[in-house]
Amino acid sequence: MDAVALKTEAAREALSEVSEGMKLGIGTGSTAEAFVHLLAERVAEGLSIIGVPTSERTAALCLDLGVPLSTLEEQPSLHLTIDGADEIDPSLGLIKGGGGALLREKIVAAASERMIVIADESKMVDTLGRFPLPIEVNRFGLAATRVAIDAVAKKLGLSGPVELRGGTDDPFVTDGGHLILDASFGRIPDSRALARSLHDIPGVVEHGLFLDMADLAVIASSEGVRRFTPLAV
Ligand code: A5P
Repeated sequence: MDAVALKTEAAREALSEVSEGMKLGIGTGSTAEAFVHLLAERVAEGLSIIGVPTSERTAALCLDLGVPLSTLEEQPSLHLTIDGADEIDPSLGLIKGGGGALLREKIVAAASERMIVIADESKMVDTLGRFPLPIEVNRFGLAATRVAIDAVAKKLGLSGPVELRGGTDDPFVTDGGHLILDASFGRIPDSRALARSLHDIPGVVEHGLFLDMADLAVIASSEGVRRFTPLAV
Protein backbone atom coordinates (compact mmCIF):
# COMPACT_ATOMS: atom_id res chain seq x y z
CA MET A 1 0.00 0.00 0.00
CA ASP A 2 1.41 3.45 -0.83
CA ALA A 3 1.57 6.39 1.59
CA VAL A 4 -1.59 7.99 0.20
CA ALA A 5 -3.60 4.79 0.72
CA LEU A 6 -2.22 4.42 4.27
CA LYS A 7 -3.23 7.98 5.16
CA THR A 8 -6.73 7.26 3.89
CA GLU A 9 -6.95 4.08 5.99
CA ALA A 10 -5.92 5.99 9.14
CA ALA A 11 -8.47 8.69 8.30
CA ARG A 12 -11.19 6.08 7.76
CA GLU A 13 -10.55 4.50 11.15
CA ALA A 14 -10.63 7.91 12.88
CA LEU A 15 -13.92 8.71 11.18
CA SER A 16 -15.52 5.98 13.31
CA GLU A 17 -14.96 8.31 16.30
CA VAL A 18 -17.12 11.02 14.74
CA SER A 19 -20.77 10.98 15.71
CA GLU A 20 -23.94 12.92 15.05
CA GLY A 21 -23.98 16.48 16.34
CA MET A 22 -20.25 16.73 16.99
CA LYS A 23 -18.33 19.97 16.94
CA LEU A 24 -15.16 18.92 15.21
CA GLY A 25 -11.72 20.51 14.84
CA ILE A 26 -10.37 19.67 11.39
CA GLY A 27 -6.61 19.51 10.86
CA THR A 28 -4.28 20.52 8.06
CA GLY A 29 -2.05 18.51 5.74
CA SER A 30 -2.42 15.61 3.36
CA THR A 31 -3.65 13.12 5.99
CA ALA A 32 -6.20 15.59 7.36
CA GLU A 33 -7.31 16.21 3.78
CA ALA A 34 -7.90 12.48 3.29
CA PHE A 35 -10.07 12.69 6.40
CA VAL A 36 -12.02 15.68 5.00
CA HIS A 37 -12.84 13.72 1.84
CA LEU A 38 -14.24 10.81 3.86
CA LEU A 39 -16.06 13.15 6.24
CA ALA A 40 -17.66 14.95 3.29
CA GLU A 41 -19.07 11.62 2.05
CA ARG A 42 -20.69 11.02 5.46
CA VAL A 43 -22.07 14.57 5.50
CA ALA A 44 -23.57 14.03 2.03
CA GLU A 45 -25.25 10.90 3.44
CA GLY A 46 -26.85 12.96 6.21
CA LEU A 47 -24.35 13.11 9.10
CA SER A 48 -24.77 16.41 10.93
CA ILE A 49 -21.53 17.87 12.28
CA ILE A 50 -20.00 21.30 12.42
CA GLY A 51 -16.32 21.72 11.62
CA VAL A 52 -13.77 24.27 12.76
CA PRO A 53 -10.84 24.29 10.30
CA THR A 54 -7.23 24.76 11.38
CA SER A 55 -6.17 26.65 8.25
CA GLU A 56 -7.48 28.60 5.29
CA ARG A 57 -6.41 25.65 3.13
CA THR A 58 -8.56 23.21 5.09
CA ALA A 59 -11.43 25.70 5.15
CA ALA A 60 -11.34 25.97 1.35
CA LEU A 61 -11.40 22.18 0.94
CA CYS A 62 -14.29 21.80 3.41
CA LEU A 63 -16.29 24.47 1.61
CA ASP A 64 -15.59 22.80 -1.75
CA LEU A 65 -16.77 19.43 -0.46
CA GLY A 66 -19.80 20.70 1.45
CA VAL A 67 -18.56 20.20 5.03
CA PRO A 68 -20.33 22.81 7.19
CA LEU A 69 -17.96 25.16 9.00
CA SER A 70 -17.96 27.43 11.98
CA THR A 71 -15.34 29.31 13.99
CA LEU A 72 -13.99 29.17 17.52
CA GLU A 73 -15.75 32.51 18.10
CA GLU A 74 -19.11 30.81 17.51
CA GLN A 75 -18.10 27.39 18.91
CA PRO A 76 -15.38 27.92 21.51
CA SER A 77 -15.55 24.34 22.82
CA LEU A 78 -15.20 21.37 20.51
CA HIS A 79 -15.79 17.66 21.10
CA LEU A 80 -12.92 16.31 19.04
CA THR A 81 -10.06 17.41 16.80
CA ILE A 82 -8.65 15.08 14.16
CA ASP A 83 -5.32 16.12 12.67
CA GLY A 84 -2.11 14.75 11.18
CA ALA A 85 1.43 15.13 12.53
CA ASP A 86 5.00 15.23 11.32
CA GLU A 87 6.28 13.05 14.15
CA ILE A 88 4.71 11.04 16.95
CA ASP A 89 6.59 9.64 19.96
CA PRO A 90 5.42 6.87 22.31
CA SER A 91 3.88 9.35 24.78
CA LEU A 92 2.00 10.81 21.79
CA GLY A 93 4.14 13.92 21.90
CA LEU A 94 4.02 15.41 18.43
CA ILE A 95 5.95 17.65 16.10
CA LYS A 96 3.51 19.56 13.93
CA GLY A 97 3.70 22.52 11.60
CA GLY A 98 5.25 21.02 8.49
CA GLY A 99 2.28 22.52 6.66
CA GLY A 100 2.69 25.84 8.49
CA ALA A 101 -0.60 25.69 10.39
CA LEU A 102 0.75 24.93 13.87
CA LEU A 103 -0.66 27.97 15.66
CA ARG A 104 -4.26 27.42 14.60
CA GLU A 105 -3.82 23.67 14.98
CA LYS A 106 -2.72 24.09 18.58
CA ILE A 107 -5.48 26.58 19.42
CA VAL A 108 -8.14 24.29 17.93
CA ALA A 109 -6.75 21.14 19.59
CA ALA A 110 -6.57 22.93 22.95
CA ALA A 111 -10.24 23.92 22.60
CA SER A 112 -11.20 20.27 22.07
CA GLU A 113 -12.12 17.62 24.63
CA ARG A 114 -10.12 15.05 22.67
CA MET A 115 -7.48 15.04 19.95
CA ILE A 116 -6.90 12.12 17.61
CA VAL A 117 -3.78 12.15 15.48
CA ILE A 118 -3.84 10.23 12.21
CA ALA A 119 -0.78 9.17 10.25
CA ASP A 120 1.04 6.45 8.42
CA GLU A 121 3.70 4.53 10.34
CA SER A 122 6.58 6.60 8.92
CA LYS A 123 5.67 9.33 11.43
CA MET A 124 6.39 7.16 14.51
CA VAL A 125 9.70 7.88 16.27
CA ASP A 126 11.28 6.91 19.58
CA THR A 127 12.36 10.47 20.29
CA LEU A 128 11.11 13.66 18.62
CA GLY A 129 13.50 15.69 16.48
CA ARG A 130 14.22 13.90 13.22
CA PHE A 131 11.77 16.32 11.57
CA PRO A 132 12.87 19.98 11.82
CA LEU A 133 10.87 21.71 14.55
CA PRO A 134 8.70 24.52 13.13
CA ILE A 135 8.70 27.65 15.28
CA GLU A 136 6.20 30.38 14.35
CA VAL A 137 7.70 33.82 15.02
CA ASN A 138 6.72 37.44 14.78
CA ARG A 139 8.28 39.32 11.86
CA PHE A 140 9.38 42.07 14.22
CA GLY A 141 12.78 41.38 15.70
CA LEU A 142 13.34 38.22 13.66
CA ALA A 143 17.15 38.32 14.07
CA ALA A 144 16.88 38.82 17.83
CA THR A 145 14.40 35.97 18.10
CA ARG A 146 16.80 33.68 16.22
CA VAL A 147 19.60 34.59 18.61
CA ALA A 148 17.32 33.82 21.56
CA ILE A 149 16.32 30.46 20.04
CA ASP A 150 20.00 29.57 19.51
CA ALA A 151 20.74 30.48 23.12
CA VAL A 152 17.88 28.32 24.43
CA ALA A 153 19.06 25.42 22.27
CA LYS A 154 22.63 25.75 23.51
CA LYS A 155 21.47 25.76 27.13
CA LEU A 156 19.62 22.49 26.51
CA GLY A 157 22.57 20.90 24.71
CA LEU A 158 20.91 21.18 21.29
CA SER A 159 22.40 22.59 18.12
CA GLY A 160 21.71 22.75 14.42
CA PRO A 161 20.60 25.15 11.72
CA VAL A 162 17.55 27.33 12.31
CA GLU A 163 16.28 28.30 8.87
CA LEU A 164 13.67 30.79 7.74
CA ARG A 165 11.06 28.81 5.80
CA GLY A 166 10.97 29.95 2.18
CA GLY A 167 14.18 32.00 2.55
CA THR A 168 14.66 35.72 3.10
CA ASP A 169 13.55 36.81 -0.38
CA ASP A 170 10.21 35.03 -0.32
CA PRO A 171 9.48 33.79 3.19
CA PHE A 172 6.53 31.51 3.91
CA VAL A 173 3.81 33.49 5.70
CA THR A 174 1.35 31.73 8.00
CA ASP A 175 -2.41 32.31 8.07
CA GLY A 176 -1.75 34.54 11.06
CA GLY A 177 0.77 36.67 9.12
CA HIS A 178 3.82 35.32 10.93
CA LEU A 179 7.03 33.63 9.74
CA ILE A 180 8.34 30.13 10.44
CA LEU A 181 11.81 29.12 11.54
CA ASP A 182 12.57 25.43 11.05
CA ALA A 183 15.00 24.25 13.70
CA SER A 184 17.01 21.13 12.80
CA PHE A 185 18.21 20.24 16.29
CA GLY A 186 18.09 16.49 15.80
CA ARG A 187 16.99 14.32 18.76
CA ILE A 188 15.23 16.37 21.44
CA PRO A 189 15.66 14.36 24.66
CA ASP A 190 13.81 16.88 26.84
CA SER A 191 10.97 18.19 24.70
CA ARG A 192 9.16 19.66 27.72
CA ALA A 193 12.12 21.86 28.66
CA LEU A 194 12.47 23.02 25.06
CA ALA A 195 8.74 23.75 24.80
CA ARG A 196 8.81 25.86 27.98
CA SER A 197 11.96 27.73 27.01
CA LEU A 198 10.70 28.55 23.52
CA HIS A 199 7.48 29.96 24.97
CA ASP A 200 9.54 32.28 27.16
CA ILE A 201 10.98 34.03 24.08
CA PRO A 202 8.79 37.08 23.33
CA GLY A 203 9.18 36.83 19.53
CA VAL A 204 8.06 33.20 19.48
CA VAL A 205 4.35 33.05 18.71
CA GLU A 206 4.09 29.24 19.01
CA HIS A 207 6.15 26.14 18.41
CA GLY A 208 5.35 22.80 16.86
CA LEU A 209 5.81 20.64 19.98
CA PHE A 210 2.36 19.34 20.89
CA LEU A 211 2.86 17.64 24.25
CA ASP A 212 0.08 16.04 26.31
CA MET A 213 -2.48 17.00 23.68
CA ALA A 214 -3.17 13.85 21.66
CA ASP A 215 -5.37 11.23 23.35
CA LEU A 216 -5.18 8.65 20.60
CA ALA A 217 -2.97 7.98 17.56
CA VAL A 218 -4.45 6.03 14.66
CA ILE A 219 -1.53 4.68 12.66
CA ALA A 220 -1.78 2.87 9.34
CA SER A 221 0.85 0.44 8.06
CA SER A 222 0.83 -2.30 5.45
CA GLU A 223 -0.14 -4.68 8.27
CA GLY A 224 -3.29 -2.73 9.09
CA VAL A 225 -4.43 0.16 11.27
CA ARG A 226 -3.46 0.29 14.93
CA ARG A 227 -4.57 2.53 17.78
CA PHE A 228 -2.08 3.90 20.32
CA THR A 229 -2.82 5.67 23.59
CA PRO A 230 -0.09 7.69 25.33
CA LEU A 231 2.60 5.59 27.02
CA ALA A 232 3.80 7.09 30.29
CA VAL A 233 7.49 7.90 29.84
C1 A5P B 1 0.33 21.17 9.29
O1 A5P B 1 0.79 22.38 9.77
C2 A5P B 1 1.01 20.06 9.98
O2 A5P B 1 0.98 20.12 11.36
C3 A5P B 1 0.46 18.73 9.50
O3 A5P B 1 -0.47 18.19 10.38
C4 A5P B 1 1.58 17.83 9.33
O4 A5P B 1 2.55 18.50 8.55
C5 A5P B 1 1.20 16.50 8.70
O5 A5P B 1 0.99 16.65 7.34
P1 A5P B 1 0.83 15.41 6.39
O6 A5P B 1 -0.40 14.70 6.82
O7 A5P B 1 0.72 16.01 5.02
O8 A5P B 1 2.07 14.57 6.53
